[in-house]
Amino acid sequence: MDIKPPLTREEVAERARLNPPPPPAKVVLITARSPNGVIGMEGNLPWMIREDLQHFKRVTTGKALIVGSRTYRSMPAIVWQTRIAHVLSRNWQALEVHGNEHHFASCLAGLVNSARHNYAAPGEVYIGGGAEVYALALQLGLVDEMLISEIHQNYIGDVFFPPVPEGMFDAGTVEAEYPEFNVVRYRRLVAN
Ligand SMILES: NC(=O)c1ccc[n+]([C@@H]2O[C@H](COP(=O)([O-])OP(=O)(O)OC[C@H]3O[C@@H](n4cnc5c(N)ncnc54)[C@H](OP(=O)(O)O)[C@@H]3O)[C@@H](O)[C@H]2O)c1
Repeated sequence: MDIKPPLTREEVAERARLNPPPPPAKVVLITARSPNGVIGMEGNLPWMIREDLQHFKRVTTGKALIVGSRTYRSMPAIVWQTRIAHVLSRNWQALEVHGNEHHFASCLAGLVNSARHNYAAPGEVYIGGGAEVYALALQLGLVDEMLISEIHQNYIGDVFFPPVPEGMFDAGTVEAEYPEFNVVRYRRLVAN
């Protein structure tokens, strides 16, 4: 039998240089909010803006999407046929399964890590709300970028986007403009 000698340290380093591991997936928080901070109303979106739904679909299809159990329940089951569900709940055993692939857990950092590890190929994973999950993700420093549909008009609502720690993100770059909202990307300034 042909037994190969172990690689030297230099050979290991050279192999790593030639085949670097893919960069870890970016964690992008995606939301739509009105100027008064509203993101939800009675368990749903307070508005019906077709272009924003299309934007959300375009950006998140085929990606890992991390949400809290309330947002998971509020979304039509069809959403989960084309996204990889990652759902945060203290009682995840009771969640109904939608879609082909799903991950349920009670630890947000664990869910985000698993999404980044297992679904790094598309380059980014998405945190899709709601307010409790956004707040926790920001507090734990898990967010690399925020992709926010900044809606022009105020809406009445009962769920609000949480405060963002001062100095954590840049001033934002407008990536698209629609009649009812702009899509703005905010990049993290302070390293994780
Ligand atoms: N405008 C937007 O872009 C947007 C996006 C998403 C959602 N929304 C809206 O936001 C609203 C829902 O947001 P929400 O803040 O009420 O709920 P949520 O964040 O979607 O889900 C809250 C649930 O997450 C679980 N959870 C939260 N913290 C946890 C922790 N530390 N450990 C384990 N599990 C935890 C709990 O699930 P269990 O109770 O199962 O334990 C909790 O009830 C809806 O109105 C929705 O339409 C808006």
